[in-house]
Amino acid sequence: MSKQLNDLFAHNRRWAAEMQTNQPGFFTRLSTQQTPKYMWIGCSDSRVPANQITGLEPGEVFVHRNVANVVVHSDLNALSTVQFAVERLKVSHVMVVGHYGCSGVQAALEGARIGLADNWLRHIQDVRDRHSGILDGLDAQQRADALCELNVIEQVLNVSQTTVLQDAWLRGQDVTVHGWIYGLHDGLLKDLKVTVEGNLAIEASYARAIASVSSSRTGSPTPDAIS
Ligand code: CO
Repeated sequence: MSKQLNDLFAHNRRWAAEMQTNQPGFFTRLSTQQTPKYMWIGCSDSRVPANQITGLEPGEVFVHRNVANVVVHSDLNALSTVQFAVERLKVSHVMVVGHYGCSGVQAALEGARIGLADNWLRHIQDVRDRHSGILDGLDAQQRADALCELNVIEQVLNVSQTTVLQDAWLRGQDVTVHGWIYGLHDGLLKDLKVTVEGNLAIEASYARAIASVSSSRTGSPTPDAIS
């Protein structure tokens, strides 16, 4: 094995030993069950690791990541993880976490041809086209940042509209969906305040969050932001 890969195993043995020393029985406890309170839906980007950013340990956050943190209603992979998290693990919070400087979002914004992923990023181009009224008036940097935020807000809407969340709320289950965004440049998370706690809250929360993306950059909400 190459030295680089050997290093990973060496790090792993050291980490496991430290965990065991600091918290005796840690792995024995986790091997029998996981009881995370959180589900993280994030970008695959190597710079946005869910556990490290939030200071959570193994067992504390259930994670689904894909290119540009997209939740599509026909994606069985995403839907299955959401179902497992909500129905089996009974997480209290599902957070969709985007990040500024997302290359998937940037490619979608520019209509750049990458290859197979173009079909995946088409979902973000739908977001771009839906909110052209907000995006068209912004400079390049602002437009990219705004689309990263709008993408998170749209994905929160998508998660909230899945049968999994709809059924959970009908059952009276206590689970909240959030939209956050991470800054690669400062390591900080920001709440986009598109929190959805139940069926009734979806539209109002969505409209407020979209309006805020616009007003935070132009000073006033654009018509399509509040429609
Ligand atoms: Co990304």
